[in-house]
Amino acid sequence: MAVREVIQKSDDLLRKTSKEVKNFDKKLEELIDDMWETMYTNDGMGLAAVQVGILKRVIVMDVNNMKLELVNPEIINQSGCDIEEEGCLSCGKIRGKVKRPMVVTVRAQDRYGYHFQITGEKYLARCLCHEIDHLNGILFIDKMEKE
Ligand code: NI
Repeated sequence: MAVREVIQKSDDLLRKTSKEVKNFDKKLEELIDDMWETMYTNDGMGLAAVQVGILKRVIVMDVNNMKLELVNPEIINQSGCDIEEEGCLSCGKIRGKVKRPMVVTVRAQDRYGYHFQITGEKYLARCLCHEIDHLNGILFIDKMEKE
């Protein structure tokens, strides 16, 4: 495992759309393991592969003591609305309020390619949306509420 560099918001790569993972191989496992180490080293709660410069649809997050690895995640259902503050390892000290769904259901694959579904509310829903946005080139600062 290794800590990789987290790229910052001025980097155009963060604006690209990440590609679907088709090969569930050793390289993917290595990427995910490195993402965990990188996230914890930087005191983050979630990280998308694009933030370490890899345009693959992979995210990791540790929310409510639940460690989640999601490959090719897709929001299949969402409801409600919640406004809370967010930050991002790629956006320095910027924090701001963002409107997100209260509840989301996400379908994804694990590192071996097995499909699963997860439903999260409030903070977990927020993190899922924030990280999935990264895979589509969107940063939370794009959606921040104007003061
Ligand atoms: Ni982020």
